[in-house]
Amino acid sequence: MHPVQIVDLFAGPGGLDVAAEKLGIATAGVEWDSAACTTRRAAGLATWEGDVRRFGPSDFPDADVLAGGPPCQTFTVAGTGAGRRALDDVLAFVDRMVAREDREEISKDLSKLEDERTGLVLEPLRWALEAIDERDKPYRAIVLEQVPAVLPVWEAYAKALQSEGYAVDCGLLRTEAFGVPQTRKRAVLIARMGGEAVQLPSPTHRTYRKGVARDSGDGSLKPWSTMGEVLDRESPFLVISNYGTGGDPKARGRRGSWEPSATVTGKISRNRVVGLDGEELDRFSFSEAGRLQTFPTDYPWSGRDVGQQIGNAVPPRLAIHVLSAAFGWNPPSDEVLDSLRTWTVAEPEPEAIPVPSGTVPEYV
Ligand SMILES: C[S@@+](CC[C@H](N)C(=O)[O-])C[C@H]1O[C@@H](n2cnc3c(N)ncnc32)[C@H](O)[C@@H]1O
Repeated sequence: MHPVQIVDLFAGPGGLDVAAEKLGIATAGVEWDSAACTTRRAAGLATWEGDVRRFGPSDFPDADVLAGGPPCQTFTVAGTGAGRRALDDVLAFVDRMVAREDREEISKDLSKLEDERTGLVLEPLRWALEAIDERDKPYRAIVLEQVPAVLPVWEAYAKALQSEGYAVDCGLLRTEAFGVPQTRKRAVLIARMGGEAVQLPSPTHRTYRKGVARDSGDGSLKPWSTMGEVLDRESPFLVISNYGTGGDPKARGRRGSWEPSATVTGKISRNRVVGLDGEELDRFSFSEAGRLQTFPTDYPWSGRDVGQQIGNAVPPRLAIHVLSAAFGWNPPSDEVLDSLRTWTVAEPEPEAIPVPSGTVPEYV
């Protein structure tokens, strides 16, 4: 194992943890959803089941990297009045936290917010500041990931973390540009303590454009990956989405097996899968939906609402690139990326042998 341990807040079924384990880094995840925790335990991932707000850096004294993908519902309505209000609230709290305003006052005001989930996006900042102020051991690196609407929050985080001595980069990344067979955009922040500049990972694959040949371009980037390449189906197929069409069948999103999947959401099992002759085929299994997110084929999805667990996760392949960039490592090798195809459940740590208290008797 590489000598870093990541504490992963809002760890879900383990998208980031799978990436870290493949890089040889131990993780500890905090997650309150019992279904996601069931999957994590089946996968052998270290899991603290509970509310992130009830833990802090001192509960994970060995962890020197902080990661987090806080829930995002209040920001996905960005552009609406509620989204803008949530954003303004969060930006004001970031300033107060960095100014080290009285914690209790801040907590009191947070509890008054219209939607209490708004405050969860501030939890990684609380952990980062507490590690500096109370543990006297700042996190060596920080990695945050969320839907695009959260980018202005990460920009405020960037300013805050820079003022605490971190080098920071943040921006939008497209998953298919890193070889994920799915188009999905994520707002990502990476930060590293110390002087050296950090940079988000550079794309390895081309950005998907509908109707454009996947191998056009100057050859400096690989063609995007397709559903057909990663799923074991006998013949080409079309995926027909019912999502966001307002009931108009003509507006339904369609992607062919020769394209990347549309964004995998918790509702992926509602999508129809049909052959090119119009024959109705089996809808995606959990293993297939997981593969579109670059989880191993045999990842032990468990508990209820597996579709939602899969849709919530960060694609492990993207997370491998992001973690490597955050640590200042070279881009991951094909060998590491290919190792994502399968999963080996980690052996549980042998129980520590209790150290007897008192004087050890001498036997002569
Ligand atoms: C967007 S998902 C993160 C997925 C994760 N990064 C992954 O890659 O699998 C957000 C997760 O936060 C969890 N969550 C929400 N509020 C929480 C809280 N207060 N404490 C712990 N977990 C929480 C949700 O159950 C959900 O699994």
